[in-house]
Amino acid sequence: MKSTTTTGSVIFGASIITPASPFTKWVGGKTQLLPELSSRLPEQIGTYVEPFVGGGALFFNTQPAKAILNDSNPKLINLYVSVRDHVEELVDRLSEYETRFNAFNTLDEKQGFYYQTRTEFNAGTLTVDDAARFVFLNKTNFNGLYRENAEGKYNAAFGWKESIRLFDEANLSNCSAALKNVDILNGDFEDACDGLTAGDFVYFDPPYYSTFDGYQAGGFSEEDHLRLHNLFQRLTASRVHCMLSNSNTDYIKDLYAGYNIDVVPVKRNINRNGNGRQGEEVIITNYKSNQN
Ligand SMILES: C[S@@+](CC[C@H](N)C(=O)[O-])C[C@H]1O[C@@H](n2cnc3c(N)ncnc32)[C@H](O)[C@@H]1O
Repeated sequence: MKSTTTTGSVIFGASIITPASPFTKWVGGKTQLLPELSSRLPEQIGTYVEPFVGGGALFFNTQPAKAILNDSNPKLINLYVSVRDHVEELVDRLSEYETRFNAFNTLDEKQGFYYQTRTEFNAGTLTVDDAARFVFLNKTNFNGLYRENAEGKYNAAFGWKESIRLFDEANLSNCSAALKNVDILNGDFEDACDGLTAGDFVYFDPPYYSTFDGYQAGGFSEEDHLRLHNLFQRLTASRVHCMLSNSNTDYIKDLYAGYNIDVVPVKRNINRNGNGRQGEEVIITNYKSNQN
């Protein structure tokens, strides 16, 4: 049962959650698929796990009581940890980047500042300042998406923006609260699922099979997809609830034949006029959901 309070908080059953949305746009982000994904969540969730968290659309929408979030990208995970543990310092840093950028008089100066920050980010350690650079670069580049080259260096080009708005303080603070008791890990998806038991829930959103995966140095190979399938089977045997999304390809459907597979429409490649190409994804579950 879902209802809304006067402060905008949403009551799910007995618990109140304050809405929060992803603080970074991400390749393969799932905001568009949220109604399809949330209507397939199990009724009861022990520990909620997202081994490929990316922008975390489903996590922020669900805000489970107990969760583990993981991604292999160390810069992204540094941002999650900074939002959880140092949100005020992060807001201060973001404010500084925003003010400095917007104060430059010419686009050439803005461009110079962008590339200087990119160099610092690529040399940087995993600090709160580095988390602020992550947000600054993604909001100032040409399409708002994180992109790395084969050496793992951020390589998105400047987006020729006149002025930027880097953050929504209320949303960042809601995200920080949503992450307070969450275990945030930076590793491989298999390790993130160690020790799960019956009644826990895992949402797998791995990189798409055989499509653009340039945001992740090294990509996600066929061997990784097989390793993931193997893990899905082991978790099924342990009665852990699993949901997985991917592109609608014969390869994925054959791999997961025998599980519940729903094909859902998605819009891809939104262009400047807002026209999108219709595509399809699959949502696979190892349990009966409300949708099947
Ligand atoms: C499709 S994206 C997830 C999108 C996310 N659900 C969202 O809503 O934004 C896939 C993620 O998997 C991560 N990844 C790639 N290989 C991985 C691995 N072996 N273990 C863990 N994460 C990995 C990538 O860094 C990327 O963030």
